[in-house]
Amino acid sequence: MSAQATTAAGPDMFRAEQAPEPCAIVIFGASGDLTRRMLLPALYNLSVDAQLPPQCAVVGFARTEWSDEEFREHARAAVSEFSRRPIDSSAWDRFCQSLFYVPGDYDNMPSHARLTERLERLEHERGIPGNHLYHLAVPPSAFASIIHGLGEGGHAVPHGEGANWSRVIVEKPFGHDLESSRELNKLIHTVFPEDDVYRIDHYLGKETVQNILVFRFANGIFEPIWNRRYVDHIQVTVAESIGIEERGGYYEEAGALRDMLQNHLMQLLSLVAMEAPIAFNGRWVRDEKVKVLQAVRPLSTEDVWISTVRGQYGPGVVGGRPVPGYRQERDVRPTSATETYVALKMYIDAWRWADVPFYLRTGKRLKKRSTEIAIQFKRAPHLLFREFLEGAPLAPNVLTMRIQPDEGISLMFHTKVPGSPLKIRPMTMDFTYGATDLAAAPTAYETLLLDAMQGDATLFARSDEVETAWGIVDSILSAWAELPPPAFPNYAAGTAGPEAANKLIEADGRRWREL
Ligand SMILES: NC(=O)c1ccc[n+]([C@@H]2O[C@H](COP(=O)([O-])OP(=O)(O)OC[C@H]3O[C@@H](n4cnc5c(N)ncnc54)[C@H](OP(=O)(O)O)[C@@H]3O)[C@@H](O)[C@H]2O)c1
Repeated sequence: MSAQATTAAGPDMFRAEQAPEPCAIVIFGASGDLTRRMLLPALYNLSVDAQLPPQCAVVGFARTEWSDEEFREHARAAVSEFSRRPIDSSAWDRFCQSLFYVPGDYDNMPSHARLTERLERLEHERGIPGNHLYHLAVPPSAFASIIHGLGEGGHAVPHGEGANWSRVIVEKPFGHDLESSRELNKLIHTVFPEDDVYRIDHYLGKETVQNILVFRFANGIFEPIWNRRYVDHIQVTVAESIGIEERGGYYEEAGALRDMLQNHLMQLLSLVAMEAPIAFNGRWVRDEKVKVLQAVRPLSTEDVWISTVRGQYGPGVVGGRPVPGYRQERDVRPTSATETYVALKMYIDAWRWADVPFYLRTGKRLKKRSTEIAIQFKRAPHLLFREFLEGAPLAPNVLTMRIQPDEGISLMFHTKVPGSPLKIRPMTMDFTYGATDLAAAPTAYETLLLDAMQGDATLFARSDEVETAWGIVDSILSAWAELPPPAFPNYAAGTAGPEAANKLIEADGRRWREL
């Protein structure tokens, strides 16, 4: 069964109506992978959609010795390969006029001075009124020298002072633990006040993640049942079929808990569990999200041992192709104890969710790629149809929000099989985004870059949010550190994860949703 989407033209609640003011966008790490695959295609598409004011300048900065012309050639290849739209030559010609490049070293003040000088010249030539958006598309080890360089160079304009603005976008990972995230916040705040800091979690830029808020708060029918009275439990799954790709060095230090749970899963958890904000803006939405994280029941060492499971993949078969185990991947220690899978049960100690378990899991090299939130409701309180069920109990109703792939929302309920005396079968009412709807939608980076240019931080993580999430992760890491090294690998690539994760949920009489 499928439900037809009825659409009505209307203002986009996530987007301020006015176009951004002219500004200079400085990309630190302009020769890197993120810039090539995400940032340049996103900026090109914003330009095609007339969302980049013509006076804008995009200034790339990295050590690679490129001229403006070489950077433009690099950008053209990147856009041809990764843009959601094919390249159009007149649109390209317009966009590429706004691309510039300054070669330099982040640790070197004369490089920062050259960047400042170039920016000032471009602003003068193009009539840009001194607004700056700095994007740190560099490894975290380079954050400090760039922030110092920006501070020394006097690039930042204090928030709210004067007509111009200076904002900084920071990529994940934002710290390695609670202490390092606090230090990083402290460092950034020496130059940029919190209102000018935009911490990216690209999940928040996804259409389907934003839709969680619309689904919950633009419909009156779901909120009354969105609580402990009707909800049995909630499952949040971020399953990947890919491995660690070329990121062995990074992943060895991170693991699934830091790489995925601290940010993406915590974001999904807070969106699904938060109270209605009093207004849709950066302050009120983020206030409610952070309250959810603050209400997560603290995990004692014993709780962590009982309520968390970690895993690491061994060799296996994914999509019909044999793949190596984690310990055989490049830049991974042959005895590595890094987790590539984590599952856990947590509680949110608040009136709405008291005693409702939230089961979260994420892993690499799993059977299937799937990100979803499933709200499983309590069973009907009194079963009238017992004698017609042929032994099996009626499955509970489940509302599933599919973030990716196959984006949409479905509700499972029971119906009578036509013609039978009283045979019951589960049916799914399904809303699937049309492939064309999503293909035409801006990518997460388009949404987030535009929001940052417009000064709307609603879809970015705030410092208290990031630190609270790290606090949860730290308690798990320190409890794990007290245990002997786990017997890894404990799941084969291409499966649904370790058996211990099944035991975790089955001990409560529940089951993970099929991957
Ligand atoms: N790639 C992705 O899909 C992705 C997704 C999400 C988040 N991120 C985050 O985005 C950031 C950048 O990732 P990336 O994949 O683009 O990395 P990358 O390909 O290694 O590029 C890093 C950029 O920074 C420069 N750089 C590297 N080390 C440096 C150092 N010690 N000092 C100064 N400059 C240095 C490099 O340029 P030069 O060598 O020319 O100076 C390059 O332009 C990271 O924080 C990453 O976690 C990336």
